[in-house]
Amino acid sequence: MNFLEHPSINYVDICCGLSWGDEAKGKMVSHLASTREYDFVCRWAGGNNAGHTIYLNGNKYKTHLIPTGVFHNIKSIIGPDCVIHPPSFFAELEYLRENGFDTKCVKVSPKAHVVQHFHISEDKEKYKEQGTTSNGIAPCYGDKFARKGIRAGDCPDLVDYLWDEKLHGNILCEGAQGFWLDINYGNYPYVTSSTTLPYGACCLGFPPQKIRRIFAAAKIYDTRSGNDPDFPETLLDDPELMSLVKFGGEIGTTTGRIRKTNWLNIDKLIVAINISGSTDILISKVDVLEKLGIFKAFHHNTLIHFDTIKDMKDYIISTLSSNCPLLDEIKFSGSAKDI
Ligand code: IMP
Ligand code: MG
Repeated sequence: MNFLEHPSINYVDICCGLSWGDEAKGKMVSHLASTREYDFVCRWAGGNNAGHTIYLNGNKYKTHLIPTGVFHNIKSIIGPDCVIHPPSFFAELEYLRENGFDTKCVKVSPKAHVVQHFHISEDKEKYKEQGTTSNGIAPCYGDKFARKGIRAGDCPDLVDYLWDEKLHGNILCEGAQGFWLDINYGNYPYVTSSTTLPYGACCLGFPPQKIRRIFAAAKIYDTRSGNDPDFPETLLDDPELMSLVKFGGEIGTTTGRIRKTNWLNIDKLIVAINISGSTDILISKVDVLEKLGIFKAFHHNTLIHFDTIKDMKDYIISTLSSNCPLLDEIKFSGSAKDI
């Protein structure tokens, strides 16, 4: 074994989602990248099924695959366990260039797998019932694990973007989707086909001992885009929850679908924090509940009503503090662009 393989990695920070995606990881990661303390920002899994919304200098940008480092001219790596659809990747590069960003910092691991057109057709035909994003994700990972996929390193279109360097310095790993969409921990088969949790980030090629902080994003209510028996259609009949959809703008970034919405499940949040090893969490969209003026959450499978947002926040803080030993910091924020 070569112990000199990573002599110059200083530390690794990871950012992940604690729910079903759409927890404002984009906001968190963009804030972290803007500190300029990182030499690399790396995506470790997934493809353009993700949708990250980034606010910078008063402008709103949307990305699907390219890591947020590109907005700060930091080397942005699409890692070995990602899947890449070259036409969508080129369109995203073009969009970033048109908006004045230098895309020379964007690199793709030669080990990433290529999403082919037939993967997308198969996804649309066979995975409709699961409500996937129709980006060919399951069929592409299916071919990868059946050991018959095509890798970026074998795809002439991507030759100018291939990553041929080692990680060094300070590294930020940018998660996609969220805890309950993880292939192992989610409500299988209503999951995505990749590892959404920090354990998956190690595929980028750093030793786990280098991990410093795990930043994680959650929302003060739960949302689910795509089908899942844990989020039945009847949620769409509840007027209070539909007000959350409206005030929170709960429409999918990638798919344009209405997200099914429910009160925060604190039992699930505790599991997600503890298994992911989250050290710093940001719970966003507090203002949406304030606008509605109704404050509820599930704990011990019981729906609790709070009189004020302060009562609800205090309850969340004390419950998480006593159940999540690795958690150091809990922050709340609104829907606004800044943390
Ligand atoms: P797939 O990843 O396109 O195969 O979709 C599988 C499931 O994960 C579906 O329920 C999608 O709606 C959900 N999903 C995938 N990516 C995201 C995301 O970035 N945010 C929220 N849900 C997602
Ligand atoms: Mg999203």
